[in-house]
Amino acid sequence: LVVDVNNSIAKVNPNMWGVFFEDINMGADGGIYAELIKNRSFEFFRPMMGWKNLGPVKEGNYLILNRQSNSESNPRYLQVNKKEKNSIGLRNEGFRGMGVKQGNTYEFSLWYRQPSAGISIRVELVDSEGKVIGSTELKPAQANNQWQYQEVSFTSSKTDQKANLQIWFEGQGSIDLDMISLFPTDTWKGRKKGLRADMVQTLADLKPGFIRFPGGCIVEGFDLSQRFQWKKTVGPIENRQLIVNRWNTEFAHRLTPDYFQTFGLGFYEYFLLAEDLGAEALPILNCGMACQFNTGEVVPLDQLDQYVQDALDLIEFANGSVTTPWGKLRADMGHPAPFNLKMLGVGNENWGPQYIERLKVFQEALKKYHPEIEIVASSGTDPEGERFQYLDKELRAMKIDIIDEHFYRDPDWFLSNAKRYDNYDRNGAKIFAGEYASHSKNNKKPEYRNNWEAALSEAAFLTGVERNADVVQLASYAPLFAHIDGWQWTPDLIWVDNLNVYVTPSYHVQKMYSTNKGTDVVSLLRDGKTLTGEDNLYGSAVVDKKSNELILKIINVGEKTEQLTIDLKGIKKSAGQAQVMLLHHDDPLAFNEVGKSPSVTPVNSTVNYKGRKLTYTVGAKSVNLLKIKL
Ligand code: AHR
Repeated sequence: LVVDVNNSIAKVNPNMWGVFFEDINMGADGGIYAELIKNRSFEFFRPMMGWKNLGPVKEGNYLILNRQSNSESNPRYLQVNKKEKNSIGLRNEGFRGMGVKQGNTYEFSLWYRQPSAGISIRVELVDSEGKVIGSTELKPAQANNQWQYQEVSFTSSKTDQKANLQIWFEGQGSIDLDMISLFPTDTWKGRKKGLRADMVQTLADLKPGFIRFPGGCIVEGFDLSQRFQWKKTVGPIENRQLIVNRWNTEFAHRLTPDYFQTFGLGFYEYFLLAEDLGAEALPILNCGMACQFNTGEVVPLDQLDQYVQDALDLIEFANGSVTTPWGKLRADMGHPAPFNLKMLGVGNENWGPQYIERLKVFQEALKKYHPEIEIVASSGTDPEGERFQYLDKELRAMKIDIIDEHFYRDPDWFLSNAKRYDNYDRNGAKIFAGEYASHSKNNKKPEYRNNWEAALSEAAFLTGVERNADVVQLASYAPLFAHIDGWQWTPDLIWVDNLNVYVTPSYHVQKMYSTNKGTDVVSLLRDGKTLTGEDNLYGSAVVDKKSNELILKIINVGEKTEQLTIDLKGIKKSAGQAQVMLLHHDDPLAFNEVGKSPSVTPVNSTVNYKGRKLTYTVGAKSVNLLKIKL
């Protein structure tokens, strides 16, 4: 092998490796969004989904009222009427239970309205056996006809994955309640009503260059009424109108019809998350088409104004001055400085001339008012298919900035596509490998699909992505998160339960690329040819001009160990040491089982080189990262 550190063949986009976030598999509600109460505003299909009577309840004790036209976004609330002296209660089950930790503080809050004081509220956190592990009281302080906000906090005396919250109503009277909420206080950056710190940390560890949100198919919706509308996800959370989640489907595993998007994690929070992670925000908006795998409902071409306006207003929300209406809202929400949005996606996996026609309407308006924003457009999921080819041709013809390609394929596809980008047009649209995951067919149980065979093939494929960094500007695995008790799609990059995060072999592969991205791709050749699968070897090399390092990624997908001699052309010192990170498993079906110590995890070592030659043994089925000071 010969690597030439002075032969730079492409610049690496510093934001190349990112993450794809979607509220699928309980990624947001019940996942990264740390709210523990399910159906806090009684707006699910059935108003009392997630809630149970604790008794003894009499007819009329609880009423669900609907404000009708007064509040389109959050019309329902609970009225508790009580003449009896005994207490009555409700229990909330959380999202497959509530994960709580010993010693951690929890904030219970609600909105209430009472004409006169009478009812007080006792809050109890109970463990999976029903034992009280934390409690407090909330005495509603105001008595008038106004809605009031109040909160109290208490500590849990136990760690439990499946706690519940009980609310007891004591005294006599009548009280209206809404937005009944329970949050841990150990959220990401300690933000009130914020995100699960362990989940965000797992993203931060990837040092992602961008975060794409909010999906995925949820951008499109089953039909247009259920599409994702960013404007309904900003402002006070009690005014954000929830919708049923697009992934609340009959195909879901372990999901019941209670999967909604409450939008506590809305567009403001997504931008904030991107900023926290040091990542570019990459929002994707609906293009006037519902998911074509479902209804395929489309907006008439001459009625797209609202959709296009949403895109223009989003740019104002992200980047506009605080004197503009949407810029002011951003400031009012706590961020006067612009978020510095640079890219915007229009449409997700839409296809056909219908997509192109609608996209052109967006393109015209966006280029007219915001030529600084790069437009990302989707070419779909079937790279060898007619739909994909048609879109690719059309998108290039209309000079779209970035084409978003999706690949959910088996390991063989990933191996044979390591050359995919070698012959792409260098002058046309840039590529966003926006959703990819190798789907191993060799496991019977779908949850085992995140196996070593899949990760190995992704590592091999990504050598080709990295080598072609001048064309492929952005890359992200999908989906990102899955909850072990509520998922509908595998494989996924990161699995969680109510208290823990479990990373997969694919996560380690992503992290290897995203945290070792370098600044320039340099040539790595064997007998004058790139390493794209001959003798089962794949490889790419970058130099990092900031850290002054050469970084080699060498993947052996075969059964045989290979001894390689690597000629280190251009390295200053003739002898020295390489840092090595190895990912390996003998069993292609090995996976990191939830709750057990991981089977596939990085192992670090060193190897010496002499005379600018490095002898390195690549084991069978291994992913190898080597770093050498320039
Ligand atoms: O990643 C899961 C889904 O796969 C996304 O929502 C969609 O874009 C793709 O089909």
